Amino acid sequence: MRAADERGRAPGSQGVDIAPTEPPPATARDMPASVVERIAKLVKDLPALPAVAQKAMALLGDPATEPEELQNVLSRDAALALKVLRLANSAYYRRGREITTLSAAVVVLGFKTIHTCVLSSAVHRVISAAGSAAERLWEHSFAAGAACRELARVARLTVLEREEAFLAGLFHDVGKGVIAAKFPGVYAAPLGLAGEVEQLGFHHGHLGHVLLSLWEIPETLRLAVAGHHDPDTDGFGRLTAGGDWLAWQVAPGVGAEPPPEPVALLAELELGAEQREQLRETVRGFLAEEKNQA
Ligand SMILES: [Fe+2]
Ligand SMILES: [Fe+2]
Repeated sequence: MRAADERGRAPGSQGVDIAPTEPPPATARDMPASVVERIAKLVKDLPALPAVAQKAMALLGDPATEPEELQNVLSRDAALALKVLRLANSAYYRRGREITTLSAAVVVLGFKTIHTCVLSSAVHRVISAAGSAAERLWEHSFAAGAACRELARVARLTVLEREEAFLAGLFHDVGKGVIAAKFPGVYAAPLGLAGEVEQLGFHHGHLGHVLLSLWEIPETLRLAVAGHHDPDTDGFGRLTAGGDWLAWQVAPGVGAEPPPEPVALLAELELGAEQREQLRETVRGFLAEEKNQA
């Protein structure tokens, strides 16, 4: 990445003043308001959740919603409707006969999975704007989602928590998508976390945290995204760091060196070499299926 100009702007920043004015935050937990403000400026012209996704999210959050209402909303977005249908027929969710209608898919998948699907579609849209980095970043993000879900399964978390883990993995580098879209070519040369902080005053985890706040994503997931490179991260953050590490071995990310091996997590989940290879194989399978459906 070229150096910031004399006003401290990174190249290609479209006039948005993002020069750091104070030492960068170490973690999302101590992200000062000024950094949040700076990121908010950068993301302000990004599309909010698409209208159909917003409506679907409102329905999904209301326990009184009938599957038909959800089906009506989903059918307004052909790409999303197709994604839901395909997901219901994927190896992970399909139970028995082929699902051919949206209403059957809603029943098979359940609201939580549809929620995941709607958000996954929204993340895909953000990452698609990342130019030459888009494809590689999407594959890495999807692989991290699948890896986090598998780690959550090994950790015997509930089915709902596994969905959350999938989202944490899927979201973890969404900030890189925005940075790559705003600063084309920024990840052409290796750019690590320290480089992002030096150039921008924040890193992609911080940006992801702010973007997901705009989308009203729960704090647990936002912190997991913000802290996935923080060695002191806990909860979903720790799982996400592990999923990121596994994903790098299946579908490398963009911009920086792979994260360090999550030694403590691997020991805790009793994942030896053989189990790790099985996990990689499972993630490869999910990724291949996702690419087939694209
Ligand atoms: Fe990352
Ligand atoms: Fe990553």
